[in-house]
Amino acid sequence: MDEIKAIGVVGGGQMGSGIAQLGAMNGLDVWLLDSDPDALARATKSISSSIQKFVSKGQLSQARIFLFGKAGTDAMRLLRCTSNLEELRSVDIVIEAIVESEDVKKRLFLELDKITKPSAILASNTSSISITRLASATSRPRQVIGMHFMNPPPIMKLVEMVRGADTSDETFSATKALAERFGKTVVCSQDYAGFIVNRILMPMINEAFFTLYTGVATREDIDAGMKLGTNHPMGPLELADFIGLDVCLSIMKVLHAGLGDSKYAPCPLLVQYVDAGRLGRKRGIGVYDYRKAPEAVKSKSRL
Ligand code: CAA
Ligand code: NAD
Repeated sequence: MDEIKAIGVVGGGQMGSGIAQLGAMNGLDVWLLDSDPDALARATKSISSSIQKFVSKGQLSQARIFLFGKAGTDAMRLLRCTSNLEELRSVDIVIEAIVESEDVKKRLFLELDKITKPSAILASNTSSISITRLASATSRPRQVIGMHFMNPPPIMKLVEMVRGADTSDETFSATKALAERFGKTVVCSQDYAGFIVNRILMPMINEAFFTLYTGVATREDIDAGMKLGTNHPMGPLELADFIGLDVCLSIMKVLHAGLGDSKYAPCPLLVQYVDAGRLGRKRGIGVYDYRKAPEAVKSKSRL
C-alpha cells in the first residue's frame, strides 16, 4: 500500500469540508469533490475562515506554520475543488462524505472502484450504514473501511474506525495512522448499525424530539435541562439542528431497520420537520430559526 500523500474527499458539505481542511492542514494534497458547485464555493469559504481561526489563536504548530506561512494562506494551495470524479484517479485514499443513503453511497463506491488506482483505500464517513454492504459494491472489499469523523471535524478529537467483514489489517493500519496524523484519537467499532457513537447519541436525540412532541417541556427547557443538568456542550435539539435533521432521521431509520427494535422508531415530529425542509442550521431553520437572529443568539432564537 502506498504512503498516503494525496486524498480525495467526496461531498463538500459540513463534514467533507472539515475533513478536506484537516488534510490540507496536515500537508496532504487534497481534492474536494461535490456534485453541487455552490457547495464547493461554500466549502472553500468555511475552510478558509476556520484556518484563520486556528492561525489567529496561534494554534498552528511550528511545522504547520512552516508549511502554510504565518497567515495560513498556503494551506489553501493544497486544496483543489472539482465536480469531476476522474480527478480522483491518482489519490491514495478517498473519504466519502455524501448524503446518508445506502443506495447513493453504493453507486458512488461502484464508480470510485472503477476510477481510482487499484491500491487506493475507499473510506466512508457514514454515521450508521454497513461498511460491509458498501464494500460489496466494489471489487476491493479488503480496502474499504469506515472512518467516522465527528462534527466539526477540525475541532472534535474522535475518529471512530469501522472494519467491514473483509477489511484488511493493512487498510486498518494505514487509515488509523492517517486519523492520528490529523491529531485524532481512534476508537474501533464492529460493523453494526450506528456503530458506537450514534447507537447511543441518536436515541437520546430522538427521545428529545418525543419529549417535545408529547408536550413534556418546551424546546428551550429540554435543551437547558440537558446542557446544564448533564454538562453537554449543546442541548439535544440544538445538537440535532447542528448535525442536520435529515442526517438524524436517516440514522434513526438505519438503527430501526438494522436492529429491528421499535424503540428506534423515528419520532413523528422529526419526520415532519424533515418533510417540511426544516433540516437545521444548514437550511437556516430546524427546531430553531436561525435566519434573522443575530449571531450571538442564533441557537436560542424563537420561531
Ligand atoms: N474551525 C475552527 N474553530 C472552530 C470551529 C471550526 N469549524 N468551530 C468552532 N471553533 C472554535 C471557535 O472559534 C471557538 O474558539 P474559542 O473558544 O477560542 O473562541 C471554539 O471552537 C468554541 O466555539 P464557539 O464559541 O463558536 O461555540 P461553542 O463554545 O458552542 O463550541 C462546539 C462549538 C465545539 C461545536 C461545541 O458547541 C460542541 O462541542 N458541541 C457539540 C458537538 C458535538 O457533539 N459533535 C458531535 C456530533 S455527533 C457526530 O458528529 C456524529 C454523527 O455521525 C452525527
Ligand atoms: P451535508 O448535507 O452537509 O453535505 C453532503 C454533500 O454531499 C452536499 O454538499 C451534496 O451536494 C453532496 N453530495 C450528495 N450526493 C453526492 C454525490 N453523489 N456526489 C458528490 N457529492 C454529493 O451532509 P453532512 O452533514 O456533511 O454529512 C455527510 C456524511 O457524513 C453523511 O454520511 C453523514 O451521515 C456523515 N456524518 C455527518 C455528521 C454531521 O454531524 N452532520 C457527523 C458525522 C458523519
